[in-house]
Amino acid sequence: MAARTQPLRVVAAEVVTAVLDGQSLGQALPSGQQRVAPSDQSALQALSFGSCRWYHRLNAELTRRLRKPLRRKDQVIQSLLIVALFQLRHSHQADHAIINETVEACRSLGRRQLAGLVNGVLRAAQRDGEPAPDAPDERLSHPLWMTDKLRHNWPEDWESLLTANNQPPPMTLRVNAKRTDREAYLEELAQADIPARATSFAPYGIQLDQPCPVDRLPGFNNGRASVQDEAAQLCTTLLDLQPGQRVLDACAAPGGKTGAILEQGPDDLSVTALDDSADRLPRIRENLDRLGLSARLAVADAGATDQWWDGQPFDRILLDAPCSGSGVIRRHPDIKLLRREDDIKALAEEQLRLLSALWDTLAVGGRLVYATCSVFPQENHRIIQRFLRQQPQARLVPIDAPWGRDTGDGHQLFPGNGSHDGFFYACLVRSDSNHNQAVTS
Ligand SMILES: C[S@@+](CC[C@H](N)C(=O)[O-])C[C@H]1O[C@@H](n2cnc3c(N)ncnc32)[C@H](O)[C@@H]1O
Repeated sequence: MAARTQPLRVVAAEVVTAVLDGQSLGQALPSGQQRVAPSDQSALQALSFGSCRWYHRLNAELTRRLRKPLRRKDQVIQSLLIVALFQLRHSHQADHAIINETVEACRSLGRRQLAGLVNGVLRAAQRDGEPAPDAPDERLSHPLWMTDKLRHNWPEDWESLLTANNQPPPMTLRVNAKRTDREAYLEELAQADIPARATSFAPYGIQLDQPCPVDRLPGFNNGRASVQDEAAQLCTTLLDLQPGQRVLDACAAPGGKTGAILEQGPDDLSVTALDDSADRLPRIRENLDRLGLSARLAVADAGATDQWWDGQPFDRILLDAPCSGSGVIRRHPDIKLLRREDDIKALAEEQLRLLSALWDTLAVGGRLVYATCSVFPQENHRIIQRFLRQQPQARLVPIDAPWGRDTGDGHQLFPGNGSHDGFFYACLVRSDSNHNQAVTS
């Protein structure tokens, strides 16, 4: 017998509440999807993502409209109001239907006594239209600490950066260089009626005009293409992979970059992919199986080298470090609700720990690429500066590339309207002398 389904907006409110309680959308949404009718699943995703994307702006409006805050145990009603405000401001659904359904949902959640309040708040919101907030954190819908930090870090760019964070991201593919080439795949997409164009910087990237389900992509199940943002694809252009090298992908799950390394590198690379999450490691295997590629996989703390390293130095290391994800907020708007300012300091210490430990596993003359999907200098060029101060054998290789911005200690990409995510890259080589000035190539 089919499981009983619940009204879409009730489940959307529960998903938003779960995010406010600390779950990611990736954790909360799948169980929500099981509680709505199959025909409502994509609407649930759109409501949950949109409510998180605009949460800070909508909540500022809601806080002004409520004379006193709702009780903690009525959090789900606050989420219900956020979902309704999101629809009033950002959807084409008729206002009266949004309001009536929300009042009904309030009752069905066992809060009859709040139905009048919900009705009053939404009718006032409909009548008055959306207020224009002055404060930039409200206007651009980000937490205050994040807005202040980015304004301080990037005085010229913070506003366009926060604006880009609120745009829906493009869907970008990476063509499997071992199975096809970009021109041929663009042709296949055209034949399948999927309009697309080559990416500007990543040599195997293709950006679709509109996102589409992966099972519509030609040869997806046979590994001819993968979904990967253009900025993430750039790591292979920096690794300078050569025949016969031993390569370590230190924080590898779900294996997006491991796949790119194996596709684009010489056939005889020996690749080790580590991740400390036993839950996420199987995703690397699944992705590599689909691509027809293989690597040695291990669950390990990359920083505890005595537990996994056999003492043979690596010629290339990719450290795609755990980070705040502040460069991929448009894909994961829940980051705005989940991250706390203190997290950044803790992440920076972890990033420096991983970089320092992995350095010992790099061959003399070898290259390490440090990457994050963050736009906070604290996780990016300041990590490189701190590391260079403590490691005299490390030399920075300048990145000569048409993308991103040279920060002096690496290259920073900002999320662009209709283009790549925010990312940071730095290339380091290990010399055998104790002077860590930049090398020239
Ligand atoms: C940015 S994600 C990696 C994305 C991956 N490189 C890709 O392109 O698909 C960071 C990964 O680091 C892993 N991680 C976090 N701390 C780690 C540690 N101490 N050792 C190894 N992996 C770690 C996380 O489980 C997560 O999968």
